[in-house]
Amino acid sequence: MNKSFITNDIKEQLDEYVISRAKELVAERFDHPPMAYVHSFGCQQNAADAEHIKGLLALMGFGFTDMPDNADFVLFNTCAVREGAEDRVLGHVGALKNIKRNRPDMMIALCGCMTQQQTIADKIKHSFPYVDIVFGTGSFHLLPQMIAERIGNKKRVFYSGSAKSVVEGIPAVRDDSVKAWLPIMKGCDNFCSYCIVPYVRGREVSRRPEMIIAEAKELIAKGYKEITLLGQNVNSYGKGLEPKVTFSELVKELDKIEGEFRMRFMTSHPKDCSRELIDAIAESKHFCHHIHLPVQSGNDVVLKAMNRHYNIDSYLELISYARSKMDDVTFSSDIIVGFPGETREQFEDTLKLIKEVEYNALFTFIYSKRNGTPAAKMENVVSEKEKSVWFRELLAVQQDICERQNQQMIGKTLRVLLDSEGKSGEDALAGRTEGNIIVETFGDRSLIGSFVNVKIDKAMNWAVQGTIV
Ligand code: SAH
Ligand code: SF4
Ligand code: F3S
Repeated sequence: MNKSFITNDIKEQLDEYVISRAKELVAERFDHPPMAYVHSFGCQQNAADAEHIKGLLALMGFGFTDMPDNADFVLFNTCAVREGAEDRVLGHVGALKNIKRNRPDMMIALCGCMTQQQTIADKIKHSFPYVDIVFGTGSFHLLPQMIAERIGNKKRVFYSGSAKSVVEGIPAVRDDSVKAWLPIMKGCDNFCSYCIVPYVRGREVSRRPEMIIAEAKELIAKGYKEITLLGQNVNSYGKGLEPKVTFSELVKELDKIEGEFRMRFMTSHPKDCSRELIDAIAESKHFCHHIHLPVQSGNDVVLKAMNRHYNIDSYLELISYARSKMDDVTFSSDIIVGFPGETREQFEDTLKLIKEVEYNALFTFIYSKRNGTPAAKMENVVSEKEKSVWFRELLAVQQDICERQNQQMIGKTLRVLLDSEGKSGEDALAGRTEGNIIVETFGDRSLIGSFVNVKIDKAMNWAVQGTIV
């Protein structure tokens, strides 16, 4: 083949001719049905991307395996949010070196947020000669081109271009049959001072509402019972669309869909979480009365240095407004400990805040320096030792809150969407409440995928347990 499939001019759509050519080349390369292994690190956005990457691989004739050692095509979809992730991924890649020596037809690909960084792509190019394909976050729809190029022209492929729009029409091979991710936008414009995401995911771009609504309807028709709308800051959905649409309007439109299902969304940035949105959730049939509202810190000076654009008073006002509209609403949050310059007193403000709000789940992070972000240049870094002491303290405080909340559920009847097998014996089933609390119960496997009412009689440290009533 002498035609080069990769051009610098990035196509913003799928190319059916290239997909069928890639399929032919894949079939010629392997004398057996080819199998792919896809592993995704990082956030839900990455998990959703990986499902679409699997959709493309399926179009090219690949089946899927859980074992990288047996796979013909291995792909790691990487995350860059914290330091150290790089070594971990490259460790996984290194482990494949000898396997590939014995099976030279095997292809190894790396993509995602880490490889969007030029320095990392260069390092892989020079130090990992057995990696075949490397691309970033905005070009996975070009995977058929890249595979065709690699097999047909025998050249390693390094691609860092990024589509400006969200490419529509890519099928997904979904990991779950009860719950589905539904990306509504890509990128981030917020530039929180610690965060690498805007640099590796590019600027915010929203999908057209009719595409989102059509996909939601399709998922529900297929039997999905829970849909999570995804975006780095869903509250700024619609920016740049013509005619303009807000996230609250999208929520109201999606809520009109008929059926028995639940909807969630993440992430909601407190600076843009409007009262109109809270009203829309309160009045909705399908949206869970649960808001993931990452606060990051409980201190205004730290929040300012983080470039978050809200303060604790306005944050707490938002929480009490939501509670006044929905008496059953619950909240979860992300917290960073040890931001540069953070003092013991400022950290204690975070402890005070989490005791006041009583989140039902907390995702806690030790601050990690990301080169290229403004925080990386800040002084008075908190020592590793101090950061880990604070981190453990924070976990202990939240653990107490969760245990107390779980105890309070004893005797209550909760509506649960059963989504998997449980851990406590053969007939154990597990599911989640609207507030994302894990509930274990007992019954036939065929109940997975249905909503049931469970009367809680026991609190464990990872979940609450009860009987279906
Ligand atoms: N867009 C989402 C979060 C995306 S990243 C939001 O704004 O809430 C998920 C979480 O990773 C962040 O909320 C933050 O708590 C954490 N995080 C991001 N960069 C980090 C860093 N450099 N060090 C430690 N934690 C970080
Ligand atoms: Fe990162 Fe802030 Fe964007 Fe979230 S909103 S992805 S924390 S820059
Ligand atoms: Fe997500 Fe990690 Fe990228 S958190 S957006 S996969 S840097």
